[in-house]
Amino acid sequence: MNNSIEQIRKDFPILNQKVNGKPLIYFDNGATTQKPSVVMGAISQYYNEINSNVHRGVHHLSQVSTERYEHSRDVVQQFIGAKSREEIVFSKGTTDAINIIASSWTTAFLNEGDEIIISTMEHHSNIVPWQMACQKKNAKLIVAPINNQGELLLDKLKEKVNNRTKLISITHISNTLGTINPIEEIITFAKSKGIAVLIDAAQSVAHMKIDVKELDCDFLVFSGHKLFGPTGTGVLYAKKKWLDQMPPYQGGGDMIKEVSFEKTTYNEPPHKFEAGTPNISGVIGMASAIEYVQNLGFKFIQQQEQELLSFATNEMGKIDEIEIIGTANHKASVISFLVKGTHPFDVGTILDQLGIAIRTGHHCTQPLMNFYKIPGTARVSFSFYNSIEEIKHFIKALKKVISMLN
Ligand code: ALA
Repeated sequence: MNNSIEQIRKDFPILNQKVNGKPLIYFDNGATTQKPSVVMGAISQYYNEINSNVHRGVHHLSQVSTERYEHSRDVVQQFIGAKSREEIVFSKGTTDAINIIASSWTTAFLNEGDEIIISTMEHHSNIVPWQMACQKKNAKLIVAPINNQGELLLDKLKEKVNNRTKLISITHISNTLGTINPIEEIITFAKSKGIAVLIDAAQSVAHMKIDVKELDCDFLVFSGHKLFGPTGTGVLYAKKKWLDQMPPYQGGGDMIKEVSFEKTTYNEPPHKFEAGTPNISGVIGMASAIEYVQNLGFKFIQQQEQELLSFATNEMGKIDEIEIIGTANHKASVISFLVKGTHPFDVGTILDQLGIAIRTGHHCTQPLMNFYKIPGTARVSFSFYNSIEEIKHFIKALKKVISMLN
């Protein structure tokens, strides 16, 4: 594949448009990524030529549909280096995947007085499901602190572990700060104490190679839509030993072996956790997005994104009125910032008028905003299809915003 940015951008037709009369600059990739034409092609081919339910019919289309759906599982398995395809459960997204674990795994393995550790920088989707589970089981949610740069205080996390700790559930990359957490070290430490680890890879899976076998995490979750795939798709990776022991999350078709009014037996994982007709076209689209990313290669993706990050950080650093929130040593291509004397919402609104899409607000991390004692930030998040030229435009626009609002 030709990895020139101009060439790559041709794969993303949505980028080639004007917003408010200005060429679109899409810097909201942390919220969702754009989709290459091959993904739309895979979805439209499915509906035009294959549409049929999976695992049910003897007829040709159903067999093709099943084959394509299950092949997508192989694509995901290979993409994240899982030992077996049975360890890949398709979900609606990261939030859904965490909820499956927070409901099903805790039913079997969380007891009164047990503890689950998360961190200050978690997304609400890695906080609220655990609060709900802890409430149900009379267990305790423990929060590992961070420093002002937005780095996890690993020693403090370790100090919080005791013989009641059952799970550490931690984000790989903070969606608000861009911090890359030392998950290898956390997993090694947790293993030595017999504690399970869940990695929220929503913000990392599109940016770096992940190998769950190497990591040796118990659970890893991500969304298809942040990986250039369709919305409403996602993956729950879990070690087979857990999926075997976890009760089903939802009941219905496909997740059963045999049903009678007296007794129902359940299907084997992963089907035990995929009740009802799944998002077949979405899963096929997600697999096609993964193949697109694999063709591009993480070496290129990381190089491009790190270049964008360091250029933007450097340029923003030259502007006195800007304060960057989240200055960890290891960062992904996310920059949260404040413009002195202004509200992030106003910054976002004016930038939108100039064709630049950013996100403003608390980014579903209200406890993190409380830590910094701010209501929210403005945030830019880059992907490999963004360019240095776009950042130059953004910096110019930012200066205009500052002169308008100050
Ligand atoms: N969690 C997504 C974000 O950070 C929606 O924007």
